[in-house]
Amino acid sequence: MGRYDFDVIHDRRNTDCIKWDFGMEQKGRDDLLPLWVADMDFRLPEEVLAEVTERVRHGIFGYTNIGEDYRNIVRDWFRRRHGFTMEGTDIVVTPGVVYAIGVAIRAFTEPGDAVLVQQPVYYPFMQMIKKNGRKVVNNQLLYRDGRFEIDFADFEKKIIENNVKLFLLCSPHNPVGRVWAREELMRLAEICQRHDVYVFSDEIHADFVYPGYRHTSFFTLGETYRKKLILGTSPSKTFNMAGLQLSNIIIPDPDTRLAFRKENSVTGYSLPNVIGMTAAMAAYRNGEPWLEELLEYLQGNLSYLRDFLRDNLPQIKLIEPEGTYLVWLDFSKVADNHKELETLLMDRAKLWLDPGIIFGRETNLFERINIACPRSILEEAMRRLYEAIDDITIALS
Ligand SMILES: Cc1ncc(COP(=O)(O)O)c(C=O)c1O
Repeated sequence: MGRYDFDVIHDRRNTDCIKWDFGMEQKGRDDLLPLWVADMDFRLPEEVLAEVTERVRHGIFGYTNIGEDYRNIVRDWFRRRHGFTMEGTDIVVTPGVVYAIGVAIRAFTEPGDAVLVQQPVYYPFMQMIKKNGRKVVNNQLLYRDGRFEIDFADFEKKIIENNVKLFLLCSPHNPVGRVWAREELMRLAEICQRHDVYVFSDEIHADFVYPGYRHTSFFTLGETYRKKLILGTSPSKTFNMAGLQLSNIIIPDPDTRLAFRKENSVTGYSLPNVIGMTAAMAAYRNGEPWLEELLEYLQGNLSYLRDFLRDNLPQIKLIEPEGTYLVWLDFSKVADNHKELETLLMDRAKLWLDPGIIFGRETNLFERINIACPRSILEEAMRRLYEAIDDITIALS
């Protein structure tokens, strides 16, 4: 065993966390094993918690802002882990990446304008576009030989036909698990440049990449593609601190940044949460060994899931993720429609996954499972799934 023990089950119930405490409110029941929302059931290491605790013990939590230290620490993280060096001033803090997507939509498009997404995709993308009175245009990812790929011709066609102003890129992609290759990103960047489209590159999952793959940040594609770039990053996924509400939006071009800042100020948000700031600095400074071990643990969970399905439930197809701790499962050989699938999962297996339909209409027979939990929870989930499907098989035979 390494320095950190990811097998430990920490009871998250009664902490008001949305994963474990809101079953009654959201699903009308509290007997579901939750492997849905994208946060982790792991506790941060002491070396990070110590700094947060020290700050809490100081006892004064007045208005706070990010300073040189903060900017340097964030810069260093991206230089070390993702191979690019931004200016400290490129960073704009917001309470979240989804929040920043909303700001970007309002800053760079007008009501009624078209915003492009690639479904199946993280559903708040569509929600933010619609809630802000813009039009969702979809460049459907192609599902070929168990893998999702970009339809570039359709991408450009949709941009031209709809006069698209902004593209919401998910990189690495939630839920299909692709870590886009540099060549793929270059093609997207060139098309967007040709048609003057802003790119919001949501790279919140960038730190979760499996061996053999490498995350390419949109930032590294070249200076010319940075003019209309808004890069969404956050320690919240990497270090499991979504509840601390802090993300770093990297906007290299001064005009683009100014437009974003201006729209951001309309909301009245200006200063970050001090605990979020402290935790982010501590995690980026001291959290790397923990993250390295976490990545190994997640690989173990993925191997377990892959082997279990292959040996016991081969009718469920696992879409091999290249990154993220979210795994996309194809249930099309198990159920005929998404209602039947939800009944199987919720009523029979008592599992709470994220149904494919919310990520896009065409993937209504998929489910997204979150594997960032102790192995024994994943094993329990698989036991429940196996028994539920076995029951049906017996009933039908
Ligand atoms: C692609 C993607 N973007 C953004 C978020 C959420 O970011 P935030 O909590 O900072 O709004 C998630 C969370 O699951 C995500 O998967």
